[in-house]
Amino acid sequence: SAPQMPAVPAGPAVMTPVLTRRWASPDSWSIKTYRRLDGYEALPKALAVDPGRIVELMKNSGLRGRGGAGFPTGLKWSFLPQGDGKAHYLVINADEGEPGTCKDIPSMMADPHSLIEGCIITCYAIRSEFCAIYVRGEAIHSLRRLTNAVNEARAAGFLGRNIMGTGFNLEIVVHAGAGAYICGEETALLDSLEGRRGQPRLKPPFPAVAGLYACPTVVNNVETIMSVPAIVMGGSDWYRSMGTDKSPGPKIFSLSGHVTRPGQYEAPMGTTLRQLLESAGGMLDGIPLKFFTPGGSSTPIFTPQHLDVPLSFDDVAAAGSMLGTTALMCFNETVSVPWAVWKWLEFYKHESCGKCTPCREGTGWLVQILRRVVSGSGTFEDLDTLTDAAGNIAGRSFCALGDAAATPILSGFKYFRSEFEDLVTGRTPPVVESRLLVGA
Ligand code: NAI
Ligand code: SF4
Repeated sequence: SAPQMPAVPAGPAVMTPVLTRRWASPDSWSIKTYRRLDGYEALPKALAVDPGRIVELMKNSGLRGRGGAGFPTGLKWSFLPQGDGKAHYLVINADEGEPGTCKDIPSMMADPHSLIEGCIITCYAIRSEFCAIYVRGEAIHSLRRLTNAVNEARAAGFLGRNIMGTGFNLEIVVHAGAGAYICGEETALLDSLEGRRGQPRLKPPFPAVAGLYACPTVVNNVETIMSVPAIVMGGSDWYRSMGTDKSPGPKIFSLSGHVTRPGQYEAPMGTTLRQLLESAGGMLDGIPLKFFTPGGSSTPIFTPQHLDVPLSFDDVAAAGSMLGTTALMCFNETVSVPWAVWKWLEFYKHESCGKCTPCREGTGWLVQILRRVVSGSGTFEDLDTLTDAAGNIAGRSFCALGDAAATPILSGFKYFRSEFEDLVTGRTPPVVESRLLVGA
């Protein structure tokens, strides 16, 4: 039955362009445009107060991490030990790789100085003199744009030594990854940044205690840090006036798939997919929605009965999924669920880093079985093995990638088991001919 959700207003989403407000301006990425539109005005305000007050401001704002997990940002910053004599670091996770997620790369292309101003304020707050921005290897265009923006900021005196005459020093390095999904996992990212093969570390210790070069490190997502200058300018009450009580602020939702106008939509947390779809011109060609991901392929799928679930961390969790990266991949009625699940699993198998057995071996097994099922040669025993294997990978893997790989299977079976069964019995034709399966 449909979950009981709080009433949300009908009609299109109310757009709140905070992070995206400069995107349509000519040369929005240049420091000239950024400064013309209030850019680098939050920085002197922040540098004029004690760093601890900026941490308090973030706590009061209720800002939660935009990388997917929603951890409270101010709380994370406050974990860094003070007076420990160690260097502190800020590392920006710009390795956006979650299937369906397209918010950080467009943000860095359209408005890189928001991120840089956010980095400077954050480093001041956590007493760090070095920041690394780790950009996904394939996003070479974002890397170039950020590098240019860092050079512009340095030339304007916002980076380097004695920033704005305050005695605060900071260097930002823009670093290219090599295109491995696992390097978006924060500890694998740190290993990669240190020059090693990117594989997750055991947590705890969390990076806040022992991160880059074993020093206290804040790892935050691009969208999180881009929110910082706006909060410094507007204050925590203003920020909390948008979104829900436990998930405040605006959010960039990535709409993709069978949508008339796919793209990035910035709206308050708690907006529903029904509202976002209305803003995006509805489903493509009017073909009804069949299923969607609320936050990328790592989050359990939803169905049309979830169209009115407020897209906030808590509401989505209460309805049985995760908000994740707010990557709303929308699939219409023409799409076979087993096909989509198989495609996602091929991705996870390819990206498994190989460190732990359940994920390394399990994703391979899942793919082999799914190939049989979608090509029409699966059995009922295969379906049982799929649920059994996925259930044994989830919660038994070293990092979140293992859980994520099990998710499409478990949630696909939850809502659409009959589609897998119909492929086994032959009631529906194979989704793909077995001769076309490379490496099957
Ligand atoms: P997590 O819940 O383990 O950690 C979230 C953050 O909070 C981390 O920075 C962690 O260091 C910090 N943290 C948690 N507990 C802490 C403690 N006790 N002390 C200090 N710090 C603490 O989640 P994780 O594994 O980092 O991320 C999972 C999420 O990533 C998923 O929800 C998924 O949606 C998302 N994801 C995003 C991708 C992207 O491209 N943006 C790609 C794949 C997954
Ligand atoms: Fe590597 Fe997968 Fe294990 Fe994570 S769960 S450590 S990606 S093998």
